[in-house]
Amino acid sequence: MCGDEARSLTALNNKPSGADVQALPRRRNERAIHGVADIVGVLVAGNSKLDTDLALAVKTGNAEAVARALRIVGDEQAAPELRAALVQALAEAGNGQVVPAIIKILGRGGLVGLRKAVLAVAGKFDDARIATTVITGYEARFAGEPGLRDAALRLLASRREWVNLLWAEIAAGRIRPREFSDDVVQQLEAYPDPGVAAAVRKHWVNLRPRLSSAEKVAEAARLKKVIVGRGALGDAARGQTHFAQRCASCHQLWGEGGSIGPELTGYERGNPDFWLTGILDPSLEIHEGFGTYTLTLTSGESLLGLLVKQDANGATLRDLAGQMHAARTEKIASLTALPVSLMPEGLLAGLDDAALRDLFSYLMKLQAGGSKAMRMIR
Ligand code: HEC
Repeated sequence: MCGDEARSLTALNNKPSGADVQALPRRRNERAIHGVADIVGVLVAGNSKLDTDLALAVKTGNAEAVARALRIVGDEQAAPELRAALVQALAEAGNGQVVPAIIKILGRGGLVGLRKAVLAVAGKFDDARIATTVITGYEARFAGEPGLRDAALRLLASRREWVNLLWAEIAAGRIRPREFSDDVVQQLEAYPDPGVAAAVRKHWVNLRPRLSSAEKVAEAARLKKVIVGRGALGDAARGQTHFAQRCASCHQLWGEGGSIGPELTGYERGNPDFWLTGILDPSLEIHEGFGTYTLTLTSGESLLGLLVKQDANGATLRDLAGQMHAARTEKIASLTALPVSLMPEGLLAGLDDAALRDLFSYLMKLQAGGSKAMRMIR
């Protein structure tokens, strides 16, 4: 994004900055290609697990299959994984007959996995009862489990009309702004609607302070002293815990973690500047294949995620819950690239010096296993 920032952050290397600025993007692009392959790999593996013949038949619109699927979806004795796969198939086929079952599932407790899967696709249907069911049960059935809470808020943010219900809940103090994950706030910010923009500024202005470029440079210099200074060896095993809490939902390192961001087990790990630039300024340079997009459908649904596939037939987005959303061209109202990374800023907030050393010794350690921090390269 901003070349000056690139130069000032890489200038921390004390090397001729021109060379770094040129070298960095080339290496990064190679990594990006692996990242996309990873996503596609996960996609294929995920689908083959859940797709049953019945789900496929539902997607083709076969009436008998639809009737059977609806029976299974409403059957509380049926396997939750199968019910989830069939709700997804029916939603993907745009079959509104599944709405009563969706409302019933969201109106009860338990079955966390099933409810998460249903929340991820329920936004396909323009039916206010879905939103009110989630809102009414928010405190009792969704707020207590982080994954469910995220999925519930992401759903409510996914349709312009439902967003108004959110504001009312926030005003009444029943839903709190700090419960929203960054991607949901980003999704709200992306509505081309001055009213929504004003409300977002109002509710989140103090929650997510973004550093200015000058502050980022200063913060990078401070952090670098903490993590590479004398006696800066942290405990990689403790660092792994911080990684699990703050990074692993999106990144793989040593085989642990998600694949929303690029795999981090690469050769630049020994370079503190690689980490500091990546963490302090995620939007500085957005890798090909990792750009954030909003997809608005003609049905009114709006989604935020990575663009996994786009061709003449349509586009596929992968949201932060890992859910794939495929839309045919004629159903797409707009597809817009956002100038910001899906990776939020401020991820190191609240870590003291000791914790920072632990995290970075885990990030920079030489190999899997063993907790010895690595020698610093410089
Ligand atoms: C919400 C998902 C998410 C979380 C959480 C997250 N990241 Fe990222 N990260 C991404 C995405 C997406 C990219 C690719 C972004 C881009 O190019 O803008 C990325 C890019 C990076 C990069 C640059 C990689 C490269 O090859 O240049 C680094 C380094 C990084 N992340 C480190 C971290 C660390 C360390 C944490 C935890 C403290 C973390 N990330 C947490 C999503 C995330």
